[in-house]
Amino acid sequence: MTVPPLAPYPASRLRRLRQADWTRRLVRESEVRPADLIWSMVVHEGEGKIPVASMPGVERLSVAEAAKAAVRARDLGIPAIAIFPHIDPSRKDATGSIAADPDGVIPRAVKAMKDAAPEVGIMCDVALDPFTDHGHDGVVEGGRILNDATIERLIEQGLMQAEAGADILAPSDMMDGRIGRLRGALEGHGHHDTLIMSYAAKYASAFYGPYRDAIGSAKLSAGQGDKKTYQMDPSNTEEAIREVALDIAEGADMVMVKPGLPYLDILRRLVDEFRMPTYAFQVSGEYAMIKAAGANGWIDEERAILESLAAFKRAGAAGIITYFAPWAAEKLGA
Ligand code: PBG
Repeated sequence: MTVPPLAPYPASRLRRLRQADWTRRLVRESEVRPADLIWSMVVHEGEGKIPVASMPGVERLSVAEAAKAAVRARDLGIPAIAIFPHIDPSRKDATGSIAADPDGVIPRAVKAMKDAAPEVGIMCDVALDPFTDHGHDGVVEGGRILNDATIERLIEQGLMQAEAGADILAPSDMMDGRIGRLRGALEGHGHHDTLIMSYAAKYASAFYGPYRDAIGSAKLSAGQGDKKTYQMDPSNTEEAIREVALDIAEGADMVMVKPGLPYLDILRRLVDEFRMPTYAFQVSGEYAMIKAAGANGWIDEERAILESLAAFKRAGAAGIITYFAPWAAEKLGA
């Protein structure tokens, strides 16, 4: 076999495909659309909107404002909203007693949002940390986070959320075995269609800082330890594979990697390994970094936001949970 001679240098000019907007659009491999976004939103027990200092542009919303936001999401083509509660500190205790209160701000918000815009999926965080006075995601005894006792509380909370009309339950606690128990409880109570998105690979990250400000959860840094006995070590990949395999076996419909941008390698590995709908959570600290650098004129904020969202899609995300959702959906068009 004769090898054809190489064409005179340079035969290949990759820049040909980059020369104009139309060529770039023609060869683009992935694209973010509003349908890829899950709007991360904080609701509070009072009236009106309250700005979150460490997350410029994000406001805690009252139940009535959350219902309006659901309509806005629908109009923007955003398929789902993830809601997180800000709870008055006076109502918190060591076991998070009010986490499963059927009259709490989360079930009230779910109902109001589903009434206002039934076409929009509502996702609820299943976790105790917004309701505990120590800020941990579980029941604490003698300085330890109790796995199985915590799961009992999470089941009550999850069932209450499903009863209220939540479409997706998203356990973010990282207790072992909670997906299976929750799935069993949902089936047992006739909630066959309630989806579970597992925070399967959730890392013990510094990037959740502003979230704790947003929901007013206790500052673990003030001498109360950290979440390293239940959230994952940022150095590990193989363990993420085991976490996700277990959650799929236990009945998760969708899985999540959290945080987002620093963990794109994990996202890609999980997509390749399991071919499951896999979501990235662009967390509060990632939001705050882009906003802060943008406000200082150190980066082009708008381009940085769109680039970060595009990176998630390129890495294989089925969707992105982000505080930028309404802005991005407006920018991208439905
Ligand atoms: C609580 C929870 C956290 C986030 C979502 N659910 C914080 C934590 O685990 O400490 C973080 C969200 C964000 O930073 O935007 N279980």
